[in-house]
Amino acid sequence: MNIPFEILRTPAAMRARAEYLRRDGRRIAVVPTMGALHEGHLALLREARARADVVILTIFVNPTQFGPNEDLAKYPRDEDGDLAKARTCGIDLAFCPEAAAMYPAGAQTFVEVRELQKPMCGASRPGHFAGVATVVAKLFHATLPHLAVFGEKDYQQLAIIRRMVRDLDFGIEIVGVPIVREADGVALSSRNAYLSPEQRAAARVLSAGLEAAARAVASGECDAAQLLALARAPIEAEPLARIDYVELRDVDELTPIDRLERRAVMAMAVFVGTTRLIDNRVLLSQPVAR
Ligand code: PAJ
Repeated sequence: MNIPFEILRTPAAMRARAEYLRRDGRRIAVVPTMGALHEGHLALLREARARADVVILTIFVNPTQFGPNEDLAKYPRDEDGDLAKARTCGIDLAFCPEAAAMYPAGAQTFVEVRELQKPMCGASRPGHFAGVATVVAKLFHATLPHLAVFGEKDYQQLAIIRRMVRDLDFGIEIVGVPIVREADGVALSSRNAYLSPEQRAAARVLSAGLEAAARAVASGECDAAQLLALARAPIEAEPLARIDYVELRDVDELTPIDRLERRAVMAMAVFVGTTRLIDNRVLLSQPVAR
């Protein structure tokens, strides 16, 4: 039986709806987003659609994950446009709360994944991942999903959510979806909308750096310092780009590694103008068949 499409605005209303669907035996998937939907988000919705009876899209620009000098106020918002795109992927429900409904006055409880939140983006964005983990926990409590779909684009975020779900016994299956890219390799991101045409062209250096490292791995390079130097080279050669970090880390623990002995993730954050872009690629120690 089809469910009539509906937008829920409060955690209580969303949860009541989800409880009813669960009692009815439906398998629920949630796709949390901050809106400004692009093909990357739509890939997550399609994955959810293939795996569940009920797909819930959440749109919430979460204030607690933005730092004081970040882009909370100017973050692109277009609920009607987002819902029109999402409905082409067959979503059943949307949860679009206001900040006041999510964070009652005096809210002071946060979820922190203590070690995984420290390095990489956590080092440049203090408090960011506590905001992410907390809002994702709240979105899970509101939507009561059996599974939740996230993009590998935000690699550290995905690792943190997996750990939170394990550590706090959420009992939710976490599904990761590969990064969706433009034809020239640039990862789709809502923040690409901030880039001028020149900056958009310069943004190619992130994926170009990752590609250079992956090619070196395929021809046998295992030394982290060499691989990092190869990845940094195109970025350092681009006058519009400035590296925040480029690192090679263990795929699960996110600890630094010196040699590529098994799987490792190369992750980076790069400012192009004032816009901070992220990208990553999992590198294998064996040459990959192409
Ligand atoms: P947002 O940046 O809107 O991203 C929502 C989801 O889309 C995340 O899981 C992200 O990894 C995924 N995504 C974004 N670009 C992608 C791409 N090019 N390919 C594949 N997946 C992509 O991430 C957040 O929102 C927030 O932190 C959130 C988890 C919603 C908590 O507020």
